[in-house]
Amino acid sequence: MDRLRRLLPLAGLALLAGSAAWFHGPWRPAAPPSAERRLGAHKLRSFCLSCHVLDGPMSRNPLAPRVRGWTRAQAYERVAHLDRLSSAMILSFQGTDEERWALAGALERLGKGERP
Ligand code: HEC
Repeated sequence: MDRLRRLLPLAGLALLAGSAAWFHGPWRPAAPPSAERRLGAHKLRSFCLSCHVLDGPMSRNPLAPRVRGWTRAQAYERVAHLDRLSSAMILSFQGTDEERWALAGALERLGKGERP
């Protein structure tokens, strides 16, 4: 009983240390996406993916290979002038500046291989 009483605080400490390590460790669950990321992913899906697929054969007009290597600043410029990229795109992105930057961020991430 005495021994148990001595060990109990130790067990508590170990538990505390363990949970702190879990919280700060590299295995901590990924932070939920920010509001800006969610907005960007939403714009990408509702606008670009109304005509493009994300990945797939060229016959299905995939977006990911077409935006490979795009920076956010490039994407920001290009989404407002899609007709300059291809005469097949007669519709450019119409949105607020916040939405345009969010979309540009989503396109940059897509071009780096991330999936929204
Ligand atoms: C109204 C339909 C439509 C929408 C919306 C659209 N696209 Fe396109 N896009 C097309 C078509 C059609 C092509 C031409 C495919 C081809 O030539 O094989 C194309 C081609 C492209 C190309 C290749 C241009 C080239 O020939 O070099 C890029 C890059 C591109 N789209 C990016 C985007 C991005 C980014 C968005 C969203 C901001 C978007 N598109 C939204 C229909 C669309």
